[in-house]
Amino acid sequence: MAQRGGTSIDSDTERYDFVVVSNRLPVDRVVRRDGTPDWQPSPGGLVTALEPVMRANDGGWVGWTGTADDDQGPFEADGLHLHPVPLSAGEVERYYEGFSNDTIWPLYHDVIAQPTYNRETWETYVEVNRRFAEASADVAAEGAMVWVQDYQLQLVPRMLRERRPDLVIGFFNHIPFPAYGLFSQLPWRRQIVEGLLGADLIGFQRRADAGNFLRAVRRLFHVPTPHGRVELPAAGEGKWPNSMSDEPRTVVAKHFPISIDAAAYVQLVETESVRARAAEIRRDLGDPTTIMLGVDRLDYTKGIRHRFAAYAELLDEGKLDVDDTVLVQIASPSRERVETYKALRDEIELTVGRVNGEFGTIKHSAISYLHHGYPREEMVALMLAADIMLVTALRDGMNLVAKEYVATRADDDGVLVLSEFAGAADELKQALLVNPHDIEGLKRAILAAVHMPRQERRTRMHALRRRVLTHDVEHWSRDFLSALAEVRPTASAQAAAETD
Ligand code: F6P
Repeated sequence: MAQRGGTSIDSDTERYDFVVVSNRLPVDRVVRRDGTPDWQPSPGGLVTALEPVMRANDGGWVGWTGTADDDQGPFEADGLHLHPVPLSAGEVERYYEGFSNDTIWPLYHDVIAQPTYNRETWETYVEVNRRFAEASADVAAEGAMVWVQDYQLQLVPRMLRERRPDLVIGFFNHIPFPAYGLFSQLPWRRQIVEGLLGADLIGFQRRADAGNFLRAVRRLFHVPTPHGRVELPAAGEGKWPNSMSDEPRTVVAKHFPISIDAAAYVQLVETESVRARAAEIRRDLGDPTTIMLGVDRLDYTKGIRHRFAAYAELLDEGKLDVDDTVLVQIASPSRERVETYKALRDEIELTVGRVNGEFGTIKHSAISYLHHGYPREEMVALMLAADIMLVTALRDGMNLVAKEYVATRADDDGVLVLSEFAGAADELKQALLVNPHDIEGLKRAILAAVHMPRQERRTRMHALRRRVLTHDVEHWSRDFLSALAEVRPTASAQAAAETD
């Protein structure tokens, strides 16, 4: 039985028809300044996107609490049924910081940073994936639908199918899937693809990601993939990979662009306190003509450096002026023990110091830099206060911040500058699309945003909002789960697809 984390759950008896498996649970264990333990929402878009899905399905959630050597048992928090998978400090170092975030993350983001290929971290990745598969197999009811999330758990679908062939298994990759030319660097590329092929349906953010994966399947295993369907032969037919069952099996790979709970943002914007806070933020910043905003995890994929470079050049050339312009950069702490992230933080903070030193005045800073995460209310107030949102990722699975900005702008105002290398660019075509490597192009887009007439802002934002409000996270999960129920039409698969 569980203790400490809220109402306990009896893990020996509790079984669910719908199970989500992700590296992190929606809450992370933290220790307050006074030493008392507490829970806070975990970082990143994945958890934000899945929480409403989970509530609708009343399922079980398997994941890590974010703390090494945590012996927290299963518990209920805020109506969610949470089943922790414990990780030792060494496993966090090798599976999470090592293989997930120092190998797969840079490799899947087009090698913006050099991936490390290390046999020890790979072995721990296999071991931890096995543990997640076992934990999921333990809580899934007969014939349940299990939805595995993201690059940290790519081996789980196969491991789970081997233990529980009765389950309907979906997998969703929240980050890009690289072109074969890059993916083929990975010494364990066959094992990863075989791991994923344990699922019935594999979802990706962009059509191009699904295409890259299918190409990897063809190149590595020589199996046909007509119309995104991977036709696997029956086990024992001597081909590899086999279907992991006595029958031939079909795995579907397709794009399902993830989204946000748009209605929740709209509701927040209507709140008096949030509007008042937005006005207060503008005042506190000295009522500038233009507030630009960047909101990112402090990650080298986000193109924060490129954004700062373009902005600094515009200040230098006198095309922007600190007296009436400010760039607010929220950089939430992330993966702080991974070397590349430490180096990035140093670099970004050095740049902020330089830009402010060079262009700031006693009254105005050029960049208002905040290395914190904030509650959603504060983020919405910031987005409402910002005239321009800068999303300049060098590579990004989706980028939900772009969608959050759009959902927030119920006044049909504000300009979104959006990298074409973020998945969101496939849908948000009325944004000012940029190639962040092209600093001149980025500068032109920033100036176009600063000077864009009200009517054009309204037209663009109106179209963007139509897209985000109609294609929200509920739409995403409904699409995915009904596609999954179609690939494997069992009774519980149908039920989960309908609940949603
Ligand atoms: O999708 C990217 C992702 O790694 C998610 O899995 C996660 O929720 C988010 O980014 C935050 O990353 P981390 O869990 O490593 O802090």
